[in-house]
Amino acid sequence: MRVVSGIQPTGNLHLGNYLGAIRQWVRLQDDAAAQGGQALFFLADLHALTQPVVPAELANATVEMAATLIACGVDPERAILFNQARVPQHSELAWLLGGTARVGWLNRMTQWKDKAGKNREGASVGLFTYPVLQAADVLLYQATHVPVGDDQKQHLELARDIATKFNLDFGTELFTLPEPYVSPAAPRIMSLRDGAAKMSKSDPSDASRINLIDDDDAIAAKFRKARTDAEPLPETPDGLAGRDEARNLVTIYAALAEEPAQAVLDRFAGQGFGAFKPALADLAIARLGPIRTKLTRLLDDRNAVGATLAAGAERARALAAPTLLAAQRAVGLQV
Ligand code: TYM
Repeated sequence: MRVVSGIQPTGNLHLGNYLGAIRQWVRLQDDAAAQGGQALFFLADLHALTQPVVPAELANATVEMAATLIACGVDPERAILFNQARVPQHSELAWLLGGTARVGWLNRMTQWKDKAGKNREGASVGLFTYPVLQAADVLLYQATHVPVGDDQKQHLELARDIATKFNLDFGTELFTLPEPYVSPAAPRIMSLRDGAAKMSKSDPSDASRINLIDDDDAIAAKFRKARTDAEPLPETPDGLAGRDEARNLVTIYAALAEEPAQAVLDRFAGQGFGAFKPALADLAIARLGPIRTKLTRLLDDRNAVGATLAAGAERARALAAPTLLAAQRAVGLQV
């Protein structure tokens, strides 16, 4: 079992990242350790360069995001935690895979379409080839399980297509086909301001997301102001159809409580949001408080977090080297 996943070190970690991805990272890290496998988690700082960055902030943001992951339960003793830029094999393999990936495949990526918007000509080349680097990220380590939120599934399907074509074109069985691991317990979390848009660090409205660094008052205020409707909560999840905002809040409650939506509705059916929102805020505060406390402590010693990343990168380079060499051999760059 080889678990690999990454996150961009831009902005703060929010509840969508946590419930949609990071909690699964921690579970799989523990499963991998129990089975003698290995988990690798990285800060995708090279991917961050595909959008405008503030150079003075990138390295700091990387350390902060690493500390947040540790606070959420990623254990650098059990998993390898590093930043992508320190493992040059990621970029090297991405270039080799660039010969295999097709422009038509990349053109179909919804994230590219969303992020480039109407101004495709003005978008960075990196934004377009972003999924090729992401494919390199997982293929480099022969990942078997890639825990991601629902929005990243398309990129992983592309990684499988690239791996399949590479193996076929070069008559090799080099690359393991990675499985996107989207756990049913890992829901897509939507914006608190718009139930049709995903909760995102790039949303200009901070009120749209719960950040893991938000204090108790901010969490309570954001849930209080979250958009909802005037109907009471229904008896069953089917009754949430067409009520995106209401469904999102029930989804968040269920994920935080680690119980099915039905169990939440059994308790709250017939009640309005005046009762539900404070209960949700209390639950979120109880769950996120300990993470924030740990994060604050970790950020008191940023150098220690930096040293953890450097040690992780060294281990990652050692694991990455044989696959890169084999890929170079397969395409004829090495004998
Ligand atoms: P990123 O940084 O946007 O998000 C990190 C993880 O959080 C999940 N996520 C969500 N899940 C549920 N609801 C949401 N609202 C929500 N928002 C984000 C994402 O699905 C992701 O799992 N391209 C990736 C980073 C990456 C990567 C990789 C991931 C680079 N290389 C290789 C896996 C394997 C990204 O930008 O994720």
